[in-house]
Amino acid sequence: MKIISTPLELKDELKHINKSIGFIPTMGALHEGHLELIKNARKGNDIVVVSIFVNPTQFLQDEDLDRYPRRDEADKKICELAGVDILFFPSSSDIYGDDEIKIEAPNVRGYILEGATRPGHFSGVLTIVMKLLNIVNPTRAYFGKKDAQQLHLISLMVQQYFMSVEIVPIDTIRDSDGLAQSSRNIYLSAQERQEALKIPSSLYEAAKMVSSGTIDVKKIRSKMLDILNPLEISYVEILNHNFEIIQEVEMKNTIILVEVISGETRLLDNIWL
Ligand code: PAF
Repeated sequence: MKIISTPLELKDELKHINKSIGFIPTMGALHEGHLELIKNARKGNDIVVVSIFVNPTQFLQDEDLDRYPRRDEADKKICELAGVDILFFPSSSDIYGDDEIKIEAPNVRGYILEGATRPGHFSGVLTIVMKLLNIVNPTRAYFGKKDAQQLHLISLMVQQYFMSVEIVPIDTIRDSDGLAQSSRNIYLSAQERQEALKIPSSLYEAAKMVSSGTIDVKKIRSKMLDILNPLEISYVEILNHNFEIIQEVEMKNTIILVEVISGETRLLDNIWL
């Protein structure tokens, strides 16, 4: 596995490769969810590139940028064992300069749900993803469905900016107790983790209600709020796959999203129906 830290070096390395490239952008602290993305990229492409970059522009001022988990050496080993060909490990000054052109998240879909509690977060995500896709120029890029709004906005950017990369969504990986894997789960105390299991329970209950014929969004949402009580809920929303409000669940075009704050930790989860 080659480790490359500057955009020019990476572009140079990939310039003459006439093969399909699968790309997984990450912020490190790799877990099984990332491994699933790498596995899929490995299956579908000749070359696999992973980037590790804790992107400062997607953190708001009072957020956890400084304490975001960094496990560089372990991450390198994980990538190597997972069969990654190139690891891109830039520093902030390799990526950002002064007085930059900004990519702005869309006014509505970029500022609802996580975008409402973290205004500007998705502009930072789209900016870094645009930069990374331009550096790597991959055939396919892999993103987890757990970060559903991020996945939606990146797909929208690729479509609206006529970019030629294929965005490949990958299912959420869960621990055996049902909690969705996330780099931030390590912040949870044993008790917070136990309470957080209400999140997957609320989603399973919602899916059960739908499969037994309840499609009224208000009823499903109210049941989920009961299950999640007394957690600090940022949102429970039931939307279509285009992130628009619906009154009734429509099969193959509905997503149920939850965000809960546990202690200092933001926990996201969802199911796609
Ligand atoms: O999902 C993440 O880890 C980040 O938001 C991403 C896509 C790597 C951009 O920094």
